[in-house]
Amino acid sequence: MNSHPTELTELRDMRAQALTGGGQERIEAQHAKGKLTARERLAALLDEGTFQEIGALATHNVNDFDMADKKYPGDGVVAGFGKIRGRKVAIYAQDFTVLGGSFSEVQSHKICRVMDVAVDSGIPIIALIDSGGARIQEGVRSLAAYGELFTRNVMASGVVPQIAVILGPSAGGAVYSPALMDFVIMVRKISHMFITGPDVIKTVTGEDVTFRDLGGTLVHNAKSGVAHLLADDEQQAFLQVKQLLSYLPPNNAEDPRRVEPYDDPQRMDDQLNYLAPEDSTQPYDMRQAIDRIVDRDSFFEIQPYYARNALVGFCRLDGYVTGIVANQPNYLAGVLDIDSSDKIARFVRICDAYNIPLVTLVDCPGYLPGVTQEHYGIIRHGAKVIYAYCEATVPKISIVTRKAIGGAYIAMSSKQMRSDLAFAWPTAQIAVMGPDGAVNILYRRQLAEAADPAALRAEITAQYQSTFMSPYAAADMGQIDEVIEPRETRTRLIAALDVLRGKVSSNPPKKHGLMPV
Ligand code: HXC
Repeated sequence: MNSHPTELTELRDMRAQALTGGGQERIEAQHAKGKLTARERLAALLDEGTFQEIGALATHNVNDFDMADKKYPGDGVVAGFGKIRGRKVAIYAQDFTVLGGSFSEVQSHKICRVMDVAVDSGIPIIALIDSGGARIQEGVRSLAAYGELFTRNVMASGVVPQIAVILGPSAGGAVYSPALMDFVIMVRKISHMFITGPDVIKTVTGEDVTFRDLGGTLVHNAKSGVAHLLADDEQQAFLQVKQLLSYLPPNNAEDPRRVEPYDDPQRMDDQLNYLAPEDSTQPYDMRQAIDRIVDRDSFFEIQPYYARNALVGFCRLDGYVTGIVANQPNYLAGVLDIDSSDKIARFVRICDAYNIPLVTLVDCPGYLPGVTQEHYGIIRHGAKVIYAYCEATVPKISIVTRKAIGGAYIAMSSKQMRSDLAFAWPTAQIAVMGPDGAVNILYRRQLAEAADPAALRAEITAQYQSTFMSPYAAADMGQIDEVIEPRETRTRLIAALDVLRGKVSSNPPKKHGLMPV
């Protein structure tokens, strides 16, 4: 065999140089900020020895502004393919040590390449973001490069899962690719997302704001709703990526992987019979209901800090992945407002896209009344919940645990909106509105003229309650399929989902619907 020592040496040297990114000094600066480098991140997230890199030797255009004397092999992003707990993924990690991870034409080519392969091969895309946004030296070329990336994000949307982990700044154009992906994970202290930074904001609006208060982890997890998970450190963020992937299929043509069942499908939980307090004005924790119903410790909550009046997340039932949507009576009485509507609608669509059946636990007094809610568009945002449930063709089961009042009954996966099965606990209350409001509207004149208005009010309220404050009127009309004991919820759900597993349903042919946004 002939060998070519010169060529091999050259290749080895170039590869070795690519490993150093922006150089030792900048690597140390990255560590000093409490951050791993791009390659350390890939090593921490991927199964050992599985990374196949592409584009390691690609470099930027030396004719760009002030770039003639610079050369960074890989150009600030490490891209390729690998495995996470045995699942194939396409992945890239931006290298902040190279020009602040700024996004260049070459970065775009590399990232788009792995994304194209991911879509063609039906494997998830993972983005590890650490970037100062569009590479300033490239001018319009770096802007055009973002256009290429965004197009890939949108084309991949709903085809393969896309997960972004923000591991440093995600500034300017760097925010929109994560925003177009399915899940955004942020890490305490090191992650910031903003379109324009504090300096520009100070110049334009005069506001003084820190990076943290502008686009820190809590802002985007609890307030803006941009992020879906919060991690204490990078290792926890990688664990969250692994957990998320375990609930998702590799692509929209496959079902999520079932795990070997480890919890008794026949398990009854007597505590559930006592969970909803007799006094229907008293709150309780719906999270407890979920934990008692699903396979032990399998509930993986998404957006736990945002719109806490709604709970969404993945779980397993007899080993099968299932999406859970629930109102949370413990927070704002579980009301549907602008933010919880957005949260629910988005999650329902994610489950529908990835063939994940939906279970909806309903305890909701309705859409939130108020001038602010109306003026900021509760009509438009609330419509998203209706749209998402109507559109979803995956198996859908609802359980009314207590209140399903007015719009909440209809919007939260009602049978009339293509839900497959509707259950109710005996504590369910299904009415157009609560007794006080209803009596005031229907009997305003009689109450005004009554000799004893209080006695008349009490009498009519009692009649109204006996008609509507139980599930039996709805069950009588067939709008609830079965009133069940809370303790048997798990077994009924597992059996019902088993029946629905072969469900075939589709929507009329169209280019796309016009979901209210
Ligand atoms: C080129 C950049 C850069 C950029 C940072 N750098 N951002 N180089 N293009 N966009 C370089 C710095 O010059 C520096 O180079 C190195 O990265 C590290 O940056 P520092 O500022 O020293 O780091 P730090 O103090 O940690 O601050 C990080 C930062 C800050 C917050 C990201 O650099 C920053 O504010 N950058 C600009 C962010 C921004 O406004 N981006 C928007 C771009 S316009 P050296 O050589 O010293 O290591 C855009 C529009 C696209 O993205 C719209 C599409 C829809």
